[in-house]
Amino acid sequence: MSTTNEGGSVAVVTGGTSGIGRLLARDLAADGMTVAVVGRSEARGTKLVAEADGLPGTIRFHRTDLAMQAAVRSLAEELSATYDRIDALVHNAGCSSHARVETEDGIELTLAVNHLAPYLLTHELLDGLVASAPARIVVTASGIHTRATLRFDDLGCEREYDALDAYARSKLANVAFTLELAERLPVSTDVTVNCVHPGFIPSTNLFRDASLRTRLLIRAASLAPGVGTTTREGADRLRSLVTDPAYGERTGTYVTGDGPTSPSAEAADQAVRERLWEVSADLVGVDPDWP
Ligand SMILES: NC(=O)c1ccc[n+]([C@@H]2O[C@H](COP(=O)([O-])OP(=O)(O)OC[C@H]3O[C@@H](n4cnc5c(N)ncnc54)[C@H](OP(=O)(O)O)[C@@H]3O)[C@@H](O)[C@H]2O)c1
Repeated sequence: MSTTNEGGSVAVVTGGTSGIGRLLARDLAADGMTVAVVGRSEARGTKLVAEADGLPGTIRFHRTDLAMQAAVRSLAEELSATYDRIDALVHNAGCSSHARVETEDGIELTLAVNHLAPYLLTHELLDGLVASAPARIVVTASGIHTRATLRFDDLGCEREYDALDAYARSKLANVAFTLELAERLPVSTDVTVNCVHPGFIPSTNLFRDASLRTRLLIRAASLAPGVGTTTREGADRLRSLVTDPAYGERTGTYVTGDGPTSPSAEAADQAVRERLWEVSADLVGVDPDWP
C-alpha cells in the first residue's frame, strides 16, 4: 500500500485549523513531522496546508465534522489508509454552544465533539498507535473541569442546559477519560496518554458560538493586559505533551502551567471514570471492554 508519509513520524491533530491546534500543527511540521490536521473549515484547512509549504515536514488536511460518529469512523479509516504509522494522536478540537444542539446521533453537541469523538477516534486508531509505539495520545482538557460535576442522569442536558456547565462537564470527561485510558493501557504497549490545561486564551475562536454577552466578556478579556494566556503559550503547553521526552514516559498526567497537577477529585474518582467509560461505549456503540 502506498502511504503519504513514507515511514516518517505522523501526528494527528484534531482542531488544527484554528487557535492553539493551528500553531501546534505548524510547529510539528517545522520539526519535520507529517501532520494530519482535522477540522471542519475547508478554507482554514487549505490555507494552513499552503502556509506549511517550505517547512521540513508537511501538513495534510482531513475535513471532518467530529460531531457525527459516522464521520469519526470514516476519518479513522482515511487516516489508517493514508499513513503507515501514527506517533501522536492529539485530541484538541473543542466547541461551546450557547444553545442546546443535538447531533444527528441524538447527542448533545458539546459532549459529542469534546468527549465522545476523542473516545471513539481513540478506539478506532488504537491498534495503529500500538503498532507505531512508542506513541502518545494527548488531550486538550481545561482547568474549568474543576468546577464541573458529571450528571449521569442527564448527561445530554435534556432537563437543563447551561452552555458553560455543558462545556465544563465535557472537559471533566476529557480528564476522566485520560486517566482511565492510561490505567487500562498496559505499560507494555508503550503508548502514553496525558492531558493539558492550555490556559485561558481569550484570543482563540473557541467561544464563536457563545451568547453575545459571553463573547463581549471574552473580547474584553482579550484586550485587557495581563489577563489570560497567549495562543503561543497555550500551544507550547500542548506541544510539550507531544514532544517532551518526559511525556513519553509519564502517563495519566494532567498538566497545567505549573506542570503535572492534581485533577479534580471527581475526575480522579475510579467509580466515576469507569461509569463514564461504560456510558461512552454505549453512546458510540462499541464494546466497553477495551483496550
Ligand atoms: N481558549 C481557551 O481559553 C481554552 C481554555 C482551555 C481549553 N481550551 C481547549 O483548547 C482546545 C482548542 O481550542 P481553541 O481555544 O484553540 O479554540 P478554536 O480556535 O475555536 O479551535 C477549535 C478547533 O476545534 C475545531 N472544531 C470545533 N468543532 C469541530 C467539529 N464539530 N468537528 C471538527 N472540528 C471541530 C475547529 O475547527 P474548524 O474551525 O475547522 O471548525 C478548530 O480547529 C479546545 O479543546 C478547547 O476546549 C481552550
